[in-house]
Amino acid sequence: MESRGGFTSRLGFIAAAAGSAVGLGNIWRFPYEAGENGGAAFLFVYLVCMVLIGWPVMVGEIAIGRRANANPYGAYTSLGNRNWGLVGIWGILCGIMFLSAYNVVAGWAFGYFLGISFGDILSTENHGAFFGGYTADITDNFFYSLAFMTITGIIVLGGIQKGIEKAAKILMPILFVLLIGLIIYSLTLNNAMEGVKYYLIPDFSLITLETAYSALGQAFFSLSLGMGCLITYGSYIKKSENIIKAAGLVTITDTLVAFLAGLLIFPLVFSQGQSPTAGPGLVFVALPGIFADMGPVAGRIVGGSFFLLLCFAALTSTISLLEIPTTFLIEQKKWARKKVVALFAVLIFLISIPSMLSHGAVDFFSNFLYYEGRNKTFFDMVFDIFSDVGLPLGGFLMMVFILTRWKMYNLHEELAIGNETYPGSFMQKFMGILLTYICPILLLIMFIVTLKVKFF
Ligand code: PFF
Repeated sequence: MESRGGFTSRLGFIAAAAGSAVGLGNIWRFPYEAGENGGAAFLFVYLVCMVLIGWPVMVGEIAIGRRANANPYGAYTSLGNRNWGLVGIWGILCGIMFLSAYNVVAGWAFGYFLGISFGDILSTENHGAFFGGYTADITDNFFYSLAFMTITGIIVLGGIQKGIEKAAKILMPILFVLLIGLIIYSLTLNNAMEGVKYYLIPDFSLITLETAYSALGQAFFSLSLGMGCLITYGSYIKKSENIIKAAGLVTITDTLVAFLAGLLIFPLVFSQGQSPTAGPGLVFVALPGIFADMGPVAGRIVGGSFFLLLCFAALTSTISLLEIPTTFLIEQKKWARKKVVALFAVLIFLISIPSMLSHGAVDFFSNFLYYEGRNKTFFDMVFDIFSDVGLPLGGFLMMVFILTRWKMYNLHEELAIGNETYPGSFMQKFMGILLTYICPILLLIMFIVTLKVKFF
């Protein structure tokens, strides 16, 4: 077996972990969730969820990974026992299935980037109908998803330092430059300030149980929690790192990018008098219409840059998702990285085919019945089970593991390594309260509510 290796520096880890966190969740999902759930009111609840749940759960995952120095299955087995190892297996399975559906959306983003920059997407009459036709077209879907998975595989093949860390250090700064450039442009448009107001001035009467539950789900999705991604990355960081600080920086970066994505998209949407509540089609339907109105040259440049941004964000996330099962198999089977990456890239791509065919190409997958009266696609079902329900479940089981098996004092001991002032500090008490009471209770509630909403 090759040596485990690891991130070379704090910056390397932060770039990679923030790369994992910053993804389609920030730029595609966050704006439409915020748009549908009251704009600024959603943003407010989201920020609370990030601090009270996202950050401490991330601290827990990284600490487990670093202490065990192993993949999620190996970590739960060595710090717990073989039965606890099943929680790790569940996380790895969620990672595989999640990536299979996520890569389809990444493929759309890639196709839109090429089609807007160099093709004729902007000249279509009806962007809603175009998007419908686009996602139903198996040739485009197949080709662009395959391209995305291939690029992801090539980077993961390079390993932690030469592949993942290096890619994140290049892609993340470009992502920030593109994002800031696009925001400056969008703020200069007519009516942009209406969008800023909708996004930043909260109307607290809009906060409902639904807002809170959506915000918590979004926080988990966005921070890559609950499926062992940060156990995996955490297993590669140095003992000298301060985990609480590192997790804090990743949380702040991820929140900042989601916040900035909103600051880009709402002014764009309001500048054209469109509705912010367009749902999942917001980025693929509303925005291309807006780019088209900018004229052929500006539209190509601004629209192309936007979808390039989306691709880069997605890529640093697909990399981290592919690394979860990769680290697992390399360690458990002692196989070479090359063989493992090839195996999972092909396997996950094959699993993603039904998700690709879920948008009108094949009726069976497009109308994948759960039970009478509720039609869902196969693609929806993958996200429902392995993301919306799977992530809070994984997070809750991790809390139970820490509290009942590994024990809080071991967690505190791990957190004190690389952080001498931690023992006895206010931070220790604060983390103790969050991880012992707040997180497990809220995650259990969220798991039950999601299960009910999605399946009953
Ligand atoms: N955090 C990513 C996003 O916001 O798009 C999605 C994700 C990546 C979730 C990696 C989980 C994961 F392990």
